[in-house]
Amino acid sequence: AEVHHLKWEIKYEFKSPDCFKKLAITINGLTPGPTITATQGDTVVIDVSNSLLTENVAIHWHGIRQIGTPWSDGTEGVTQCPIQPGETFTYVFVVDRAGTYMYHAHYGMQRSAGLNGLIRVLVPEGTVEPFEYDDERHLLLNDWWHKSTYEQAAGLSSPSFEWVGEPQSLLINGRGKYNCSLAGAVDSCNEENSECLPASLTVVQGKTYRFRIASVASLSAFNLEIEGHIMTIVEADGHYVEPVVVKNLNIYSGETYSVIVKVDQDKSRNYWVALNVVSRKPNTPTGTAILNYYPNHPLKSPPTIAPVGALWNDTAYRVNQSKSIVAHPNYIEAPPRTTDRTIILLNTQNKIDGHMKWAINNVSFTLPTTPYLIAMKNKLQHVFSQRPAPETYDYENYDIHTVLSNPNTSSSNSIYKLEFGSTVDIILQNANTLSPNNSETHPWHLHGHDFWVLGYGKDKFDPKVDPKNYNLVNPIQRNTVPLHPYGWTALRFRANNPGVWAFHCHIEAHFFMGMGVVFEAGVEKVGKLPKSIRGCGESK
Ligand code: C2O
Ligand code: CU
Repeated sequence: AEVHHLKWEIKYEFKSPDCFKKLAITINGLTPGPTITATQGDTVVIDVSNSLLTENVAIHWHGIRQIGTPWSDGTEGVTQCPIQPGETFTYVFVVDRAGTYMYHAHYGMQRSAGLNGLIRVLVPEGTVEPFEYDDERHLLLNDWWHKSTYEQAAGLSSPSFEWVGEPQSLLINGRGKYNCSLAGAVDSCNEENSECLPASLTVVQGKTYRFRIASVASLSAFNLEIEGHIMTIVEADGHYVEPVVVKNLNIYSGETYSVIVKVDQDKSRNYWVALNVVSRKPNTPTGTAILNYYPNHPLKSPPTIAPVGALWNDTAYRVNQSKSIVAHPNYIEAPPRTTDRTIILLNTQNKIDGHMKWAINNVSFTLPTTPYLIAMKNKLQHVFSQRPAPETYDYENYDIHTVLSNPNTSSSNSIYKLEFGSTVDIILQNANTLSPNNSETHPWHLHGHDFWVLGYGKDKFDPKVDPKNYNLVNPIQRNTVPLHPYGWTALRFRANNPGVWAFHCHIEAHFFMGMGVVFEAGVEKVGKLPKSIRGCGESK
C-alpha cells in the first residue's frame, strides 16, 4: 500500500464560479479542491495549513470511516479543535474501502463557502468490479449563494430569522451560470468571465463511462439527468448496488453514486447534463454542464433546452427510487437479525426564545467548546451534559401531520453512549414543520460507520408493526440516507468503531440550527490524540 502525502493551503480568494464574483474558500487556489485519488488500503496524509487569516477551519473526509483514527475525522467540536489561522494540522487516515467519497469543511457553515472536493478510492489491482467501463468522469454537485457564510449564519441566528433562501445557482464541477442582469448595477458579475464557462465532459461515441457523482450541496436535493442517455446505478456511498436503470437520479446532500452510461447517441451534437432542485419549490435555474461528443467543440451548446427533470414535489417518485437501491447480489453483507437497542429520532422545527431551531426528540443540538473526543480522553466530563440524550419521543400522542402548538424547545450537548460492538437501530421520524402542510427532506449522515437501510415508510413509524417489514435480506449499506417528507427511515449499524461520531442532517443550515446528535462507543479504546487538535476549551 502507498502513502499519499498532500500539502494543502486553505485561503480566501475571489472566485466567480457562476459569473458572480465573491470570496470563496480555496485549497491551493481551487474550489472545488483537488480530487484525492488513492487505492484501497493506502494511507492519505494531508497537511492542512490555515491561511484564512481570521477564521478557523476543519475538514471532514466524508465516507471514510477513520477506523483507529477518530481524531482525523475533521469534525470541529466533536473530534477536534479547529485549526487556527497560521496553524497546520496533519490528517492521517487509511482509505480502507474502494468507492466514491467526498471531503468538505466541517466548521460552522463553512462548507457553503466552497471548501469541498471528491475522493476516489480505487480497487486494488486485479480486483474485478461488478460492472465494466472504458473510462470515468466526475460530477461534483453543489448549490451556491452570493451571500457569505457569515451573512447566512447571522440571518439564521437572528431573532427576526432570515432564511438563506434558495440558491442563486447550481454548480457542476464548480461551474454554474448566474443571469447577471438580475444582479443589478454591479460590476462583479460578468457572464463573459472564463471562470464560469460550463463544465464540459468529453466522451467518445460507442464507449461506456462510469460517472462518479457526489453532492456537497448545502441545502438542495437534486435531480440529475443526462439528456438522451440512461444511467445504471451501480455504487452508492462505496457499496455496490444491484443495478438500477434510471432516466433521472435523485441525489441528496452527502450522498455519492457511480452510474454507468453508454454513450450511444447521435454524435453530431453535444448533450446537456442537467441539474434541478427537487423537494423544495425551485427558485434556481437548471444547472448545466455539457456532455461533449468528440469531436464536437467542447463548449458547443446542445440544440435543445436543458431537461427540467422530475416534478419537484413528486415525493412518491423519490421514495420509490430510494427503495430501489439495494445491495448487489454478489456483495451482500447481511445485517444482524436483531438489534440491541432502538433509538427513535423525531425531527421537528422549533423555537428557542423566538429563534428558529431544529430539534431531535425536543432537543436542539449544540456543540460543546471542548470537543467530545478530547473531553472524554482527558476525563473532562463536566464540559458537556452528562444527561443521556432522549431515546424516543411521545409517539402515542404526537401528531406528525400538524404544526406544533407549542414550538418552544431547549438546547443541549448531551450524547448517546452506545455499548461497544452492540447493534443499534435508528428510526428517523419526520413531521410537519412550523408551516402548515409542509414537511422537508432531511439527508442524514453518520460519521465513522456505514448503516444498513432497513426500510422507508410513510406517516408514523409503528414500533410493533413496521420492523416486521424490514429488509434484512439485501439492504444497502450507506453513510447518508434521506428522510422523506412525512415519512420515516429505519437504519441499523454496529457500534464497532471506537470514537465519538456525529450523526446529523447534511443540510448545512439545519445542522447549524441544531439538527444533529452524537454517538460515543468504545472511546476508552481510542489511542493517544495528536497534540495539535487539543488547543481549545478546557483542553488547552
Ligand atoms: Cu459530510 Cu458531518 O458531514
Ligand atoms: Cu434537515
